[in-house]
Amino acid sequence: MEKKKLILIGAGMRGKSYTDTAFKYGDRFEVVAVAEPIDDRRNYIKKKHNLPDEMCFTTWEPLMAMEKFADAVIIATMDRDHFAPTMAAIDKGYEIMLEKPVAPTPEECLKIADAANKKGVNVLVCHVLRYTPFFRLLKKIIDDGVIGTVYSIQHAEHVGNTHQSHSFVRGNWRNSEESSCMILQKCCHDLDILQWLLDKPCKRIQSFGSLSYFIPENAPEGAPERCTDGCPHSDECYYNAIKLYYDDKKNGWFRTTSTKKVAPTDDDVMEALRTTDYGKCVFKCPNNVVDHQVVNMEFEGGATVSMTMEAFTKNSRCSRFMGTKGEIIANMGDDHITVLDFATNAYREINIADAFAGDQTINGGHGGGDPKILEAFYDLLCGNETSNSVCNVSVACNNHMLAFAAEESRISGRVIDMEEFVENIKKGI
Ligand SMILES: NC(=O)c1ccc[n+]([C@@H]2O[C@H](COP(=O)([O-])OP(=O)(O)OC[C@H]3O[C@@H](n4cnc5c(N)ncnc54)[C@H](O)[C@@H]3O)[C@@H](O)[C@H]2O)c1
Repeated sequence: MEKKKLILIGAGMRGKSYTDTAFKYGDRFEVVAVAEPIDDRRNYIKKKHNLPDEMCFTTWEPLMAMEKFADAVIIATMDRDHFAPTMAAIDKGYEIMLEKPVAPTPEECLKIADAANKKGVNVLVCHVLRYTPFFRLLKKIIDDGVIGTVYSIQHAEHVGNTHQSHSFVRGNWRNSEESSCMILQKCCHDLDILQWLLDKPCKRIQSFGSLSYFIPENAPEGAPERCTDGCPHSDECYYNAIKLYYDDKKNGWFRTTSTKKVAPTDDDVMEALRTTDYGKCVFKCPNNVVDHQVVNMEFEGGATVSMTMEAFTKNSRCSRFMGTKGEIIANMGDDHITVLDFATNAYREINIADAFAGDQTINGGHGGGDPKILEAFYDLLCGNETSNSVCNVSVACNNHMLAFAAEESRISGRVIDMEEFVENIKKGI
């Protein structure tokens, strides 16, 4: 097998995850350079992939100033740091795997898609859900016409209450001015999947939502600024940072992101809780993104979709697809998808593992999405990609437009006509 050389820009949670997976696929990939300002994260990549000092950078600019020396770049910096390195990598002619969202504004999204198309490079956007066995099976059931024509969908992204507190109250995506709005950040996956599954354009969209709970008015009496300051409500508070980050030693995700260390000690965690926003009372954080939102959509052909994003749940995605011949009930996390056939009025459970028997990658990160996206990226680099899961940047940007329009509707209170919305953005570029 021909080995493809990869550069990593941004060795945080996602960058580490992709390159760890690439390491497992050592016959296909070789990580040859990294750009990452945090020493611990950069040094992890250096050691894992045995990189020389001169291939380890504290920022992406000098790397992208060099003559092209690899096949592809993985760009896994934060949302507002996607545009500049992606444009530079396109300019150098690199193939790119780019984290979602493509960019936090529709204008930047369209500029990236346009530049990639003009240069003729592939920019694969990391819509990992498309590669999961759960959604691949769902797509097959719908495409096979098992439930006839789909006219109605209910879809819920159950973020999870502590996931919300970690990422969207205390963490990276708490403030839309620092990252991106919630419906783009968390639900660009869902809006992409819905368009992928329906395979038709959305005509009109409307949205409501607000930040209702994680606000100062809801702080219990006497709660201090930090959980480490001796909160009188620590025993009963679901968001007590000491319980979530320090006591729960198994929560590697919370512990590594809060400390920005690859293998944090208890002391590192306590230091992070004392000094960063991860230790702050959830009612006293500098957050502004919504904690619940609903989006209603009407698609070409008449299908209607109602999508919700909710903090106050346990983490999972749940959908019902209603068609002319039957109904699908699909809860991500179950081992099966249920189909109701109107002809017999009987429910049938289709087991997901059985549908992908023999595929060892289905248990990888993101419900099996992380290994599969790397497999697809390798095939794309070799010119052999055939799966229908791949989401190139033009499709991703088109699908991101629903998130931008939903946010505009949420703020303005208007129903948005999608064609008009996209036309206006294009005129403004
Ligand atoms: N596909 C998915 O399901 C999924 C899941 C989570 C996050 N994401 C996306 O992935 C991206 C990264 O998220 P994350 O959780 O890994 O964040 P992170 O903060 O853990 O990682 C980002 C890294 O970029 C580094 N960085 C900052 N400036 C840099 C520069 N100039 N040059 C090189 N590196 C630089 C940071 O130090 C950090 O380590 C975000 O855009 C996020 O929305 C996608």
